[in-house]
This record gives sequence, C-alpha cells and structure tokens, in this order.
Amino acid sequence: MTDRLQRFLDLMRQHNIDAAAINPGPTFRYLTGMQMHLMERPTVLLVARSGAAALVLPQLEQLKLAGARLELKPCLYPDNPATWQEAFSDAFRGLGLRKGRLALEPRGMRYLELTFLQSAAPECELVDGSLVFENLRLLKNQSELDKMQQAAQIAQKALLETLKTVRPGQTEKQIAAELVIALYRAGSDIELPFQPIVSSGENSANPHASPGERTLREGDLLLFDWGASVDGYFSDITRTFMVGKVDAELERIGAVVRDANAAGRAAARPGVPASAVDTAARGVITDAGFGEYFTHRTGHGLGMEAHEAPYIRGDNTILLDPGMVFTVEPGIYLPGLGGVRIEDDMVISQDDAYSLTNLPRDLLLLNYQRD
Ligand code: CO
Ligand code: CO
Repeated sequence: MTDRLQRFLDLMRQHNIDAAAINPGPTFRYLTGMQMHLMERPTVLLVARSGAAALVLPQLEQLKLAGARLELKPCLYPDNPATWQEAFSDAFRGLGLRKGRLALEPRGMRYLELTFLQSAAPECELVDGSLVFENLRLLKNQSELDKMQQAAQIAQKALLETLKTVRPGQTEKQIAAELVIALYRAGSDIELPFQPIVSSGENSANPHASPGERTLREGDLLLFDWGASVDGYFSDITRTFMVGKVDAELERIGAVVRDANAAGRAAARPGVPASAVDTAARGVITDAGFGEYFTHRTGHGLGMEAHEAPYIRGDNTILLDPGMVFTVEPGIYLPGLGGVRIEDDMVISQDDAYSLTNLPRDLLLLNYQRD
C-alpha cells in the first residue's frame, strides 16, 4: 500500500468515512499517479476504507491503467451510455460497498457522476469529504517542494523573458500571449495553473481582470499574476511594474504593498495561526490608510491546486505546520486609477519559513526602448 493511500485511509477513519468517490482532478492524480481529464464520459475512483479500490473508466482510456501506482480493479465501459450504470454497479459490488458514508469532493463531483453513484448504491449516504481531501494534500514532502521550487523558477524566468518584449502600444492579450509562450519555453507543463492575468492602467484595479484589448501606455501600472506547472505542482506569483512615470499615489501604494508583503512573509512560521499572516500584512495596509482598498484575503494554500488549504484569512485559526505552502499576496486597488499586488509562495520549514519566489518586490520601472 502506498504512503498516500495509507494516510488517506487514516483520514477516512478519523472522519468516520466508509468510502470515497473521486473524479479526475488533483486528488485523483495524487492517489493514482494517473493524469485524466473531466469529460462527457464519467471516470470515478472508488476507495473503500479497507484500502480496496475500483476505477470506473471508459474503455478508450484503458492504456492509462499502466501508469496507475494504486492497486485497483478497472470497471471499463464502452461508448454506449446505456452500459455506464452497470460499470458503476460492478465497482460497488467488487468493493462490497452497499451502505455507509460515501465522501465526495464538493468542487469536483458533478451531477453526471452523482446520478450513477446514487443509482449504484442507493443506501449510501453522500457526504462532504472536504476535510479528508484537504488534509490529504496539506503537507508537502521534499520531492513535492522540489517540484514547486522548479515551478517558481520557471515562472520567474518566463516573466523576465517576457519583460524584454513588452512595449507601450501592445495589448494586454499580446503581452499575455508572449508570457504563455515563455512559460512553455522555460519548461512549464502544458497545463498551466491558471490563465495568466496581465492587466494595465485602470484594469489593474480589478484583482481578477482577464487580459483584454486595452493597449499599454506611459503612466500605467502593469500587473502580472502568473504561474508554471511541474508534474502537476504549481507556482503562483504576482508582480507589478511602472510604465514610465506613474501617479504619485500609485508609487505610494506600491511601497505600502511591498511592506505588507514583507510583513506577511515575516509573520509566517510554524505554530502560528494562518490568521497571523493575514493580520500582519493587512495591518501595514490599514495603518497606511488603504484598508478599504485591500479587498481580499492575504493568500491561499498552493500545491496541485492553484487555490487550496490553508487559506490565509483573518478568521482561519489553523496552525501553520512544516510542509505547508501558501501565497502571501496583499494588494491595494484604487478604482479608476490602478492596483498593485505582490505575491510570493511561502513554505513553512521546521523552525521558520522561506519563499520559493525571489523576484524584486519593488514597483520596478519597466525597461523598454523608446522610439
Ligand atoms: Co496569483
Ligand atoms: Co494566488
């Protein structure tokens, strides 16, 4: 039995769960080693508390079974949807599962799979398995941390390459396209953690802007929020630049956010609650008078998901432990004017914390040739 499966079973026992149903996504990949996608045909891994596992899978995907690092019984089905229910029923029978508490991933399971599961095991109680799934991937081991360090380095290298090509007059979409190509050239997996954010001028005041047709001009802030992926592990970084001379107020928030980011990182260490990191970063921004313009939590856990536990919020009492990885990403967003966010990826170590990301955190002047 793999360590990961053993830990999963322990967590199931702790939370009084009898079995779990998992469709393709980070938990699926973490347990099986198989990379599969959500599609119109259902794929579901069933794990019983005994450790026995079955996988409902389209026949056309069966070659992927060779890569499974979990011992499992395949329940294959052909393309005719009329046969799919039987594959699910077969999986439950094989595991001897008839009733009990069946844990699901609330953000993963879809109506499609749910109806097959319910029909196959009408006496099972479907329950929210968030605590089991979150805790399973919460602490990263050295090999996971190595991949995340690599993902951070690749992302940083890609940004530095991209910056060489950025000029006023380009659209956010053009700049984003360069960044995506640079990420692949630098060695990222094809599946990026998320589509990069490139926002300029007043658009940077929207924390989740998507790159559009706005053209870059002198006096803009230019914000990049991007990441790379290595073997399914992510980085997630934000840096903000000045295009020529910017409004003094924007320079000011750049300095405040830099200091808030530093305070958040300095507060991170084992044994303190996640809320302490949020409080430290937020305090700097509030003291500078910009509290109402910092409209989101200070950060989120990072791993095989771009957003996962532990969430760095003022009300999160979870204690930081060695092996946890999360972002520190304070921001100030001035509507109509622009926004600054500085985001780093922090690892809690045995007696301290360190950053996987190390690009300069000041509001830097973008360098380009003026015509
Ligand atoms: Co980000
Ligand atoms: Co983030």
